[in-house]
Amino acid sequence: MNICILGAGAIGSLWACYLHNAGHSVSLWTRSSETSISLSLDERPPLVFPCNQESQLANADLLIVTVKAWQVESAIHPIISLLNPSCSIIFSHNGMGAVEAILPQISNHPVLFATTTHGALRKNKNQIQHTGHGQTIIGSLNNLADEQLDKLVEAFDLALPPALSDSNIGQALWNKLAINCCINPLTALNDCRNGELAAKDTLEIIDSLCFEIAMVINAEGFTCDNNELFTRTQQVIEATSANFSSMHQDIHHNRPTEIDYITGYLLQRALTHNIDTPMNKQLFKQIKQKEAQNDH
Ligand SMILES: NC(=O)c1ccc[n+]([C@@H]2O[C@H](COP(=O)([O-])OP(=O)(O)OC[C@H]3O[C@@H](n4cnc5c(N)ncnc54)[C@H](OP(=O)(O)O)[C@@H]3O)[C@@H](O)[C@H]2O)c1
Repeated sequence: MNICILGAGAIGSLWACYLHNAGHSVSLWTRSSETSISLSLDERPPLVFPCNQESQLANADLLIVTVKAWQVESAIHPIISLLNPSCSIIFSHNGMGAVEAILPQISNHPVLFATTTHGALRKNKNQIQHTGHGQTIIGSLNNLADEQLDKLVEAFDLALPPALSDSNIGQALWNKLAINCCINPLTALNDCRNGELAAKDTLEIIDSLCFEIAMVINAEGFTCDNNELFTRTQQVIEATSANFSSMHQDIHHNRPTEIDYITGYLLQRALTHNIDTPMNKQLFKQIKQKEAQNDH
């Protein structure tokens, strides 16, 4: 396939290298004016990718959008008209709500979402480290995508396994969002690694968060049992105990967080269903205060 990756950050560069190694023709689209970019994955010899070339975009069979949730709309908007209508678009970021805002403008394309637990670190502009092996779940966001799904999942699975298809991607995204609503804000506010959330008083807060989150997910027409969510969150805390969450890193490095698309999305949906979510509201407010302090 001809594949263009929008957003040559950690995850975008990781997939660029693996998809290239699997035999695809991969190009990148960044917000600079460079026409090629060299990427070295895990200290291997560098690969050189064409970059910001409109002809590559026009010929793309697949566009993979790997910018952060709050960057999605501004990143894709300028290039939509440059894409071939048959080009599939896969979004991959943490959180929910960002694609909904842009979906009407790309409804003539097959649109999909990929949620991944692979970890990647951009050491510098040209060096990427695959920090954690995970899995990728891909699902369709519109009917046009259904016939492309198997082919795209196979391509991802061959390049960076395992990749699986999910016919209910909405449920998979809520499952991930639910855990992110617990781990991300708490690690950022407590300035700690994931594992430190296993303390008794923090687990009590997580229990209340899970109760609120489960009510919203069920009201949205998906399933979630608050006790199961609590157990799953504890398992993730244990399995990733040495990690710093992405929100912790964003606050630590003075960058905007994805809170609007994680807890913010939950609060937005809770409001629609008239569900009270005081504990999540409080964490949202505290993260917003931290972001504002970082601005100064
Ligand atoms: N890294 C991980 O291990 C990991 C794992 C799972 C999920 N995720 C999720 O994946 C998403 C991406 O994360 P990441 O770690 O890869 O972030 P990242 O390293 O910050 O990558 C985002 C990239 O998007 C680029 N970008 C932003 N606006 C753009 C625009 N208008 N046009 C073109 N490029 C643009 C940025 O460019 P600049 O370089 O110019 O800033 C940056 O290179 C996030 O939602 C994250 O939560 C990450």
